[in-house]
Amino acid sequence: MLIDLSGKVAFVTGGSKGIGKSIVEALVASGACVAVMAREQGDLDALVVHLNEQRPGSVLGVVGDVSSPEQVAAAVDATEKRFGALHLAVNNAGVAGSAGLLHDTGHDNWRHVMGINLDGVAWSMMAELPAMLRAGRGAIVNIASVEGHTVLPGFPAYVASKHALIGLTKATAADYAAHGIRINSVSPGVIATPLTMAPGQKEVTDRLAARIPLGRIGTGEDIASTVAFLLSDLSAYTTGADFVVDGAYLLRE
Ligand SMILES: NC(=O)c1ccc[n+]([C@@H]2O[C@H](COP(=O)([O-])OP(=O)(O)OC[C@H]3O[C@@H](n4cnc5c(N)ncnc54)[C@H](O)[C@@H]3O)[C@@H](O)[C@H]2O)c1
Repeated sequence: MLIDLSGKVAFVTGGSKGIGKSIVEALVASGACVAVMAREQGDLDALVVHLNEQRPGSVLGVVGDVSSPEQVAAAVDATEKRFGALHLAVNNAGVAGSAGLLHDTGHDNWRHVMGINLDGVAWSMMAELPAMLRAGRGAIVNIASVEGHTVLPGFPAYVASKHALIGLTKATAADYAAHGIRINSVSPGVIATPLTMAPGQKEVTDRLAARIPLGRIGTGEDIASTVAFLLSDLSAYTTGADFVVDGAYLLRE
């Protein structure tokens, strides 16, 4: 990868597998030091050990849940203590929730999806932004979805959370531009990850993949390279934008 992030410190949520893991790998390969927050200790430990073998001391793992403001604040704090000033953040952790009509999926499913996909990003940014203000500049990428532009039938909470996340990205981009902090979102299309390949979900994935004009499901690396670009100075004049990375999936709606 040609993007140079050496000397930069990054914080990535949901980075132990799937798209988040690809993002962490890309940022480490670009020279950044990366703190990775995820819920599951096992996957996280394996990734941290592996990447620190490649570049010693470059990765910190922090177990935590983004739906807890206290846990995210503690993770950002641990990042600054370990690596110094925070420059970059990727708010990637997200869940699809249960499939069904709104009245069938229930209050708990709604709160679960919103609590991670929308509140979790807001709590993360509330911790990251003061750290970036202390650093004097920053760049944030929120991982939205093509379902923030269209609808995936049977997933109303997910669709609503991703539409709202793009709105949150634009609102904060406008508010923090004068402080030297750029905030963009990336909207992946259908990407092969544990989330989309899970039992019960794979059928939905296969149905969606059949109509992608570029002729294939996307990879985590497809998303990670766009994220790295948006975190780098190559995109210095870009803020408040949403980058759709979907093989033209949305054009087939
Ligand atoms: N895979 C796709 O096709 C696709 C498409 C569009 C958008 N997205 C978005 O990309 C992001 C990543 O999706 P993925 O497919 O890689 O998912 P995944 O399930 O494969 O991985 C999700 C990661 O997030 C972490 N996570 C989940 N809930 C968390 C929480 N409460 N606190 C901390 N970490 C948490 C998990 O531990 C894991 O590391 C999500 O925001 C998702 O909505 C994915």
